[in-house]
Amino acid sequence: MMQGADEVENVSKSFDEDLHSLPLEELKNKYLSKKGLISKLLEKIPTLPPQERRDFGKYVNNLKKHIEETIKELETANQTNEVSGGRRILFDNDVTLEGKKPPLGNKHILFKARDELMEIFKSMGFSFFDGPELETDFYNFEALNFPPYHPARDMQDTLVVGEKVLRTHSSAMQVRAMQTWGVPIKAILPGRVYRREEVSARKYPVFYQFDCLAVGKTIGVGHLKWTLETFLSAYFEKNVTVRFRPSYFPFVEPGNEVDVKCVFCDGKGCSVCGGTGWLEILGAGMVHPTVLEYAGVDPDQFSGFAFGVGVDRMAMLKYGINDIRLLYEGDVNFLGSL
Ligand code: PHE
Repeated sequence: MMQGADEVENVSKSFDEDLHSLPLEELKNKYLSKKGLISKLLEKIPTLPPQERRDFGKYVNNLKKHIEETIKELETANQTNEVSGGRRILFDNDVTLEGKKPPLGNKHILFKARDELMEIFKSMGFSFFDGPELETDFYNFEALNFPPYHPARDMQDTLVVGEKVLRTHSSAMQVRAMQTWGVPIKAILPGRVYRREEVSARKYPVFYQFDCLAVGKTIGVGHLKWTLETFLSAYFEKNVTVRFRPSYFPFVEPGNEVDVKCVFCDGKGCSVCGGTGWLEILGAGMVHPTVLEYAGVDPDQFSGFAFGVGVDRMAMLKYGINDIRLLYEGDVNFLGSL
C-alpha cells in the first residue's frame, strides 16, 4: 500500500465529521489554510520515496478538491439558503439544529368570537343571509318603521354617503332577507355596521353585529326566550339566566333589552357587571307588523322574533377585554397574547 495513504484517509474521515459540527470558517481554517491539514499532507511529499510522490500528490489533491468544492457549496447554499443534495444547510452548518421558527399568526379575537357564535347558530339550524353595507334609507330605516324625520332615527347617528347610508345596524337586512327567502324564515344576518361615534373605550364607529330573525306561523315570545338562553349558554359555556326589560325599538313590539345574569360573579355583583349582577347584552322583541308588511308578509298569519347582538361586546365579555379599541388597533402584542 502507498505510504502515507492512511493519513490522507484520516483527514478525509475527519473532514466528513467536522462538516456537520464545525462552523464554516473553522472548517476552512482547519483544512485549507496555510497551516491546515491539507498543507501538512502536501508538505510530506518531498519526504516520500520518489516513485510514490506522484500518486500520493494526486490522492491529496483529490481530497483537497473535494474539500474546496464542499465548502464552496456550503457557502453558496448559506447565501441563498437553498437546499443542497436534498438537505437543508443551516447557517452554522449544523444540519441537526432546529430551524428558525417564524412567529405563528392566530385568528383575531373578534373573528374567533364571531365564528363561535356562527357555529352555534349553524348547529341550531339557522341560515345565514348577507346584505350590503352601503344601504338605502328604506332598508336601514323606513321599512323598519322609522318614518322620515322620526326622532328615533337619532338613536343611531348615521354616516351618509350620497343617496345612501352606511348601515347603522344589521337589522337593515331583515326586510331584505324576508323578501329574498320568503317566510317561514330562520336566519342570522351578520355584518359590519357603522355609526358616527366618538372613539372611546366603549364605542367605535365601526363594529360587528348580527340579527337573529325567525318568522313563522306560530312564533312567540317563548321561542325568543328559548333561543336566547340556548345560544348564550352555549357561547358562555354555562347555563345562563336571562331577564327581559321593556324597551323601545321601532321595528319590534313589544321590545326588550335583554340582560344575562353576570357570567363572572353569578349575579353577586362584580366590576364587570358594575355591581348590578346583570350584564346588558342585546336588544330584542317581536317583529313589528309594519315590518312584516313592508316585507310582503301577512301579519295576520305570520309572527316572528328578532334580536340584535354586538359581536364586539360578546368577544369582550368572553375574553375579558375592557376596551373596544384593542379590537381594532391591530396591536400584535395584545392580539398575540390572547
Ligand atoms: N338593531 C338594534 C340595535 O342595533 C338591536 C335590535 C335588533 C333590537 C333586533 C331589537 C331587535 O340597537
